Amino acid sequence: MRLAGKVAIVTGGTKGLGHSVAQAFAKEGCRVVCAARRPDERGELPPLGAGDLAHHPVDVRDPGSVDALMRATYETYGRLDVVVANAGLSRPGPAERLTPEDWSDVIATNLNGTFLTVRSAIPYVERDGGGRIITLSSALATRVARGSSAYAASKAGIEALTRVVAVELAGRPVTVNCLSPGFVDEGMGRELARNEALWSYYGGKIAQGRAGRADEIAEAALFLAGDASSYVNGHVLEVNGGLSW
Ligand SMILES: NC(=O)c1ccc[n+]([C@@H]2O[C@H](COP(=O)([O-])OP(=O)(O)OC[C@H]3O[C@@H](n4cnc5c(N)ncnc54)[C@H](OP(=O)(O)O)[C@@H]3O)[C@@H](O)[C@H]2O)c1
Repeated sequence: MRLAGKVAIVTGGTKGLGHSVAQAFAKEGCRVVCAARRPDERGELPPLGAGDLAHHPVDVRDPGSVDALMRATYETYGRLDVVVANAGLSRPGPAERLTPEDWSDVIATNLNGTFLTVRSAIPYVERDGGGRIITLSSALATRVARGSSAYAASKAGIEALTRVVAVELAGRPVTVNCLSPGFVDEGMGRELARNEALWSYYGGKIAQGRAGRADEIAEAALFLAGDASSYVNGHVLEVNGGLSW
C-alpha cells in the first residue's frame, strides 16, 4: 500500500489516463477525487466522501472553480497529499489554419489550467507532512510534429512551469514533477495508436515498437506520488518506450 491513508486529486480523472492514474492510486490505499467538468461516462463515481474514488466538478480554466475543488476536498477528507494536474485537450491543425479560439482553448486548459491547479494546490499539500504535485506533459513538448503547435507549446510551458515551481518550493515539504507520456493506447492517444497511416509514420520512432498502456503511465505516476521519489524534484519523467525522433 504505497499511498495508504493519503488523499489525492486527479484533474481529468474521469476518463483516459487520468482515470487509470486514479484507479492505481486507489488500489494503493489512497482516496482519490476525480475532478472534471462532467461526471464519468460510466456513472460509477459517487460524490466526495462516498467512496475511495469520487467525482467533484471542476473547470480548470476557472480560478474560482479550482480553488473550490481544493477547499471541498480538504474539508471533506481533512488532508490533501497529492495533486495531479492531468486535465488536457488537443486541437490539432497547421498553425496557419488554427483558429485563435482553438489556440486559446488549448492554452487555457492545458497551460493556464495547470498553473491554476498547481498554484491552488500548494497551501494544502504542504500541510500535514507535505506532499506531491505532478503535472502532465507529452513527448510533443520537445519533438516537432506538424499540426501540434498549440498542444506542443502548452506542454513545453508546463515543463518550464514545473521546473520553476519545484525550485521555488524546494525548501518546503513539497516536490513538483512532470510526467511526460509518449504514445499511449488510451485517451487522446488511442486514435493515433489505432490509425494505420499515422502509426506507420510514428510507430517506427518507438524503440519498444508498441504504444504504451495506461497502466504503465499510472505506475510512473505512482512512483512520483509516493515515498520512493522523495529526492526527485523538478524532473520531467518520460515514459515513452524509448522514443527517438
Ligand atoms: N493519451 C495519450 O496518449 C497522452 C500522451 C501524452 C500526454 N497525454 C496527456 O495526458 C493527459 C490526459 O490525456 P487523456 O489522453 O487521458 O485525455 P482524455 O481521455 O481526453 O481525458 C481528458 C480529461 O480532461 C478533462 N478536462 C478537459 N478539459 C477540462 C477542463 N476545462 N476542466 C476540467 N477537466 C477537463 C476531461 O473531462 P471533461 O471534458 O468532462 O472536463 C477528461 O476527464 C493530458 O494532459 C494529455 O495531454 C496523453
